[in-house]
Order: sequence, then C-alpha cells, then structure tokens
Amino acid sequence: MNHLFTPLKIGHLTLENRVVIAPMCQYSADEGAATDWHTLHLGRLALSGAGLLILEAAAVNPTGRITYADLGLWDDRTELALAQSLAVARRYSNIPIAIQLSHAGRKASTQKPWDGGNFIAADAQNGWPPVAPSALPFTVDGPIPDELSVKDIVNILEDFTAAAKRAERLGIDAIEIHAAHGYLIHQFLSPLSNTRDDQYGGNLENRMRFLLDVVDRMLAVISDKMTLGVRISATDWVDGGWDLGQSIILAQALAAKGCHFIHVSTAGLSSQQQIPVAPGFQVPFAEAIKQAVDIPVIAVGLIDNPKVADEIIASGKADAVALARGILYNPHWVWHAAAELGQQVTAPPQYLRSSPHGIPSPFK
Ligand SMILES: Cc1cc2nc3c(=O)[nH]c(=O)nc-3n(C[C@H](O)[C@H](O)[C@H](O)COP(=O)(O)O)c2cc1C
Repeated sequence: MNHLFTPLKIGHLTLENRVVIAPMCQYSADEGAATDWHTLHLGRLALSGAGLLILEAAAVNPTGRITYADLGLWDDRTELALAQSLAVARRYSNIPIAIQLSHAGRKASTQKPWDGGNFIAADAQNGWPPVAPSALPFTVDGPIPDELSVKDIVNILEDFTAAAKRAERLGIDAIEIHAAHGYLIHQFLSPLSNTRDDQYGGNLENRMRFLLDVVDRMLAVISDKMTLGVRISATDWVDGGWDLGQSIILAQALAAKGCHFIHVSTAGLSSQQQIPVAPGFQVPFAEAIKQAVDIPVIAVGLIDNPKVADEIIASGKADAVALARGILYNPHWVWHAAAELGQQVTAPPQYLRSSPHGIPSPFK
C-alpha cells in the first residue's frame, strides 16, 4: 500500500515522496525577472524534503502577468534571472523542480495582493489592457478585456511553446500548464467566460481546443525527458459553469495526448462562486478524476494535517498531495510529517543534528 513517503513515478521523474509544493506567486519579480527574493525563497523550499517543488506561475508574456511584479519567462533576461536563482537552489538540493507556465487573461493588470489586489487601469502606472476569449469582465466593475482574435491566440500559443523551450534550457524537470483559477486557459474552458462562436468557443470540444493546442505544441518542442502536466480547476462552483463532468472528459483527453499528471484544484473563474471551503474540500474532485485516468493525480487545498495527507494517498484518493500555505507557514512541514508518521526524508547534512530527541530520526 502506498503512503505519503513512498516514492512516486510521475512522467520521467521518480519523486522521493508524495508531498508536492504547490505553485505560489511571490509578486516579487522585476519586469518578469526573478530577484534575490526568489533565490532566498526557492532555496528554502528546495531544502524542504518535499518530493516536487513547483515554481510559481510564470507568465509566458508580459500581458499574461496577474500583477506587474509577477515572474515571467518570455525573453533571455527573464530566463537568465531565473537561471541564477535556480543555480543556488540546485547547488544544495536535488529536489525535482517544475515550473508553472501561465497567462492571466482577463485577470491581468492588478495590484499586488498586499496592496489590495484591485485592477489597475490600462492607462495607469503598472497597468495594461487585459485580453480574454470573450469581452466579458471578471467582476461587474472590472475592466472589459479585449477579445482575442485567432491570430492573437496563435501568438499566445507560440509564447507558451517558447517558454517551454526556455524551461527545458533551464534544466527544469517538469512543466505544469496553468489551466486553473480563472486565468486565460480556464477562461477558454468555461462557458461562463467563453462565448466565442469560432473553433475556440461553443461546445466542449471547442472550449477545450486552446488548452489541447498548448499541449500539442509543447509536446512538439520539449524533449522526451521533460515531464508535462496540467493544473485544472475541476469546477467553477457556479451553476452552468465548468464542472466535474467536463473536467473528467478534459483529463481523459490530456492523458490521451501524453500528459503525465493532472493537478486538481477548483474555482477562481467567477465572482459568483460559492465555495464550501473545508479541510480537503477539493479531494473528492481529484478522486473522481483519478478513477477516470491512469496518470498520477495531485490533490490540493487545505491538506495540512500529515495523517490526513497520508490517508488520502493510502486510500487511493490521489497519488500525491500539494501544499501551499501550510508550507509557507512551516517550511519544515515535510520533516515534521515524516517524524509524525515514523518515516524519513532527505535533509541537508548541515541540519541533521536538529533531529528531535526521543523519537527515531526523520532524516535519511
Ligand atoms: C501566496 C500564494 C500564491 C499562489 N500562487 C499560485 C500560483 O502561482 N499558481 C497556482 O496555480 N496557484 C497559486 N496559489 C494557490 C495554491 O497553489 C493552492 O492551490 C491553494 O493555496 C490551496 O492550497 P493550500 O490550502 O495548501 O494553501 C497560490 C496560493 C498562495 C497562498
């Protein structure tokens, strides 16, 4: 029987355990370029003992950033800056590293969360005009995005492909396409945000086309060593929106194309969403998708109790669990979980003497 600390094969990688660090925007980049903050933050996460570290959403072009301080991967400058942060983490850790590639669509051009997170007008400092599948705003008083033409769509597909090539050049082990949380790809998927009448809108097949095009194009340029997965929101939590049934069909299509994992979150598309937030509330979505595909499925969302995380794996509800806030709050969460579950993790030799008295060492 598998548990939280049994290895997991995911694409071309073998994770040491099934704890995944979820992608977390840091809003600390300089015109898309990683800064010393990233070196510090990634360095710390790289020493966490987790099985996989997913880097924050990196925008594939400047318009695709949520805020002006988002990380990007769209030119040599942004690639080089990230290379420098990664080099430091790599020097001291062998943790597999994934990057989330993203475009914010109509949710772009906002303040940093700690400055209020409101939209910034296109003509104001640090603002720009957001784009989307349809000219429908995210909030009633939010900016009306520019509707993408098919030519614009092709340009964004090329931006995703170019970013994937850069990720591979950076020695990153896996790519997670961000199709969740109401950002551009999710905006194409959901009938609430996509009212197009061309090949990218209308029926489910057409709404899935943009994401499947991203996948096809990426698979065509990445090497056979790169692991590729997709993060989805399995429901909009709004009647008539994107839902679990459509997510299952999408997950099967992604697996059939050759994607290596699905990371199952929910929500973010509509300001009308009603989310029943509770510990592990998104796990049933991961479980339902896992039953429909034969590639690894990652569950996420308020899973920060080690015994609960272990049970999710042991009962076969998901193949791995991802943590975001729990790891920010306690970067040694994985060590503590190993200690609590009587298991072991890899820790840097400099820290081995921190092993607690009176219990078997959680360190390998
Ligand atoms: C600071 C912060 C930044 C986040 N940035 C991203 C992101 O870049 N991409 C993404 O898909 N989700 C992002 N999320 C969502 C998390 O990855 C995760 O799905 C969510 O926080 C639920 O997991 P948790 O309960 O373990 O925090 C972010 C969450 C936090 C707290």
